[in-house]
Amino acid sequence: MRPGQSSRTARWVAFLRGLAHHGRPALVHDPLAAPLLGGTAGAVLAMADRVGPLTRVLLAVLASASGGRSRFMSIRTRVLDDVVVGAVAEGIDQLVILGAGFDARAWRLGELSSCTVFEVDHPDTQAHKRQRLGDRAPLARDVRFVGVDFEVDSLATRLTEAGFDTSRPAVVLWEGVVMYLPEAAIDATLATLASLLSAGSQVAISYSRTGAGGTALTRRALGVVVGAAGEAFRHHEEPPAMAARVERAGFSVRWDEGHPDWVPRLLGQRQGWDIQRIVLSTNGGKGSPPSPPTGPFPPASKLRFPASGARRVG
Ligand SMILES: C[S@@+](CC[C@H](N)C(=O)[O-])C[C@H]1O[C@@H](n2cnc3c(N)ncnc32)[C@H](O)[C@@H]1O
Repeated sequence: MRPGQSSRTARWVAFLRGLAHHGRPALVHDPLAAPLLGGTAGAVLAMADRVGPLTRVLLAVLASASGGRSRFMSIRTRVLDDVVVGAVAEGIDQLVILGAGFDARAWRLGELSSCTVFEVDHPDTQAHKRQRLGDRAPLARDVRFVGVDFEVDSLATRLTEAGFDTSRPAVVLWEGVVMYLPEAAIDATLATLASLLSAGSQVAISYSRTGAGGTALTRRALGVVVGAAGEAFRHHEEPPAMAARVERAGFSVRWDEGHPDWVPRLLGQRQGWDIQRIVLSTNGGKGSPPSPPTGPFPPASKLRFPASGARRVG
């Protein structure tokens, strides 16, 4: 990341989420993406809404031309939304979002009304987000902002100072972050989570595989673009290595899935590429372990969105 600036990749993925409700089926609706991004990106998202039918056609063409890859972001976010909603239904009332970026779950998921959300992120990205948010009220019971540089700061200290309750289970999301971190920071964060989280907690990590999902050329091109944004890819891993890493830290892997699992379930299509995966692990506790979201998923319209500016889709 560039010192003093918010994460560019966080802005890119928020932009993709801001377009997601134009996809068919609409898997995610993020009405906060435009106001959080502001500037040109926010204006483009507002324009995309104004010419909705045209946007839908363009996105459909893009999805077809990319073999569905252009939808990878909305799929990843939707799967994690369902993890959160499932955890809350089991009684978990603390959500920790590591590397939150412009994540708007606390403002767009009505299911979080009894939940305290801890948004952990690099202070530079977080400052930008808080400024853009203003005093917009969340749908979550409470949101606590926790500034942490995973490579420097103590996550345990900062989280407990922010009021995280180590005696109650939590659901932790680490979406689209570990690929930008060195191994040491990933392992240190996992060890901290293992020491902080009470039994029955769930940890969902999205990670990139080493090779699948594109040709060597497309992967190199993406690496160059991301590197030019000051956020080089530093970590890719295959599922067995990721499972071993998570289990070494003391968690038990419950499921590990990727686009070949989700696309048939969510979109009713077949596909072989496997850009990113999510591993869900737990640290024991009572009750049955969470199973993968099985689908068919309810349309995004079944999720509750903020009343203001929300357009129901699905
Ligand atoms: C691709 S963005 C993902 C943001 C968000 N999770 C999402 O999916 O929309 C990567 C995030 O990781 C955060 N990040 C990168 N390096 C970090 C570090 N060393 N410490 C804390 N956060 C970091 C950035 O601030 C950014 O918010």
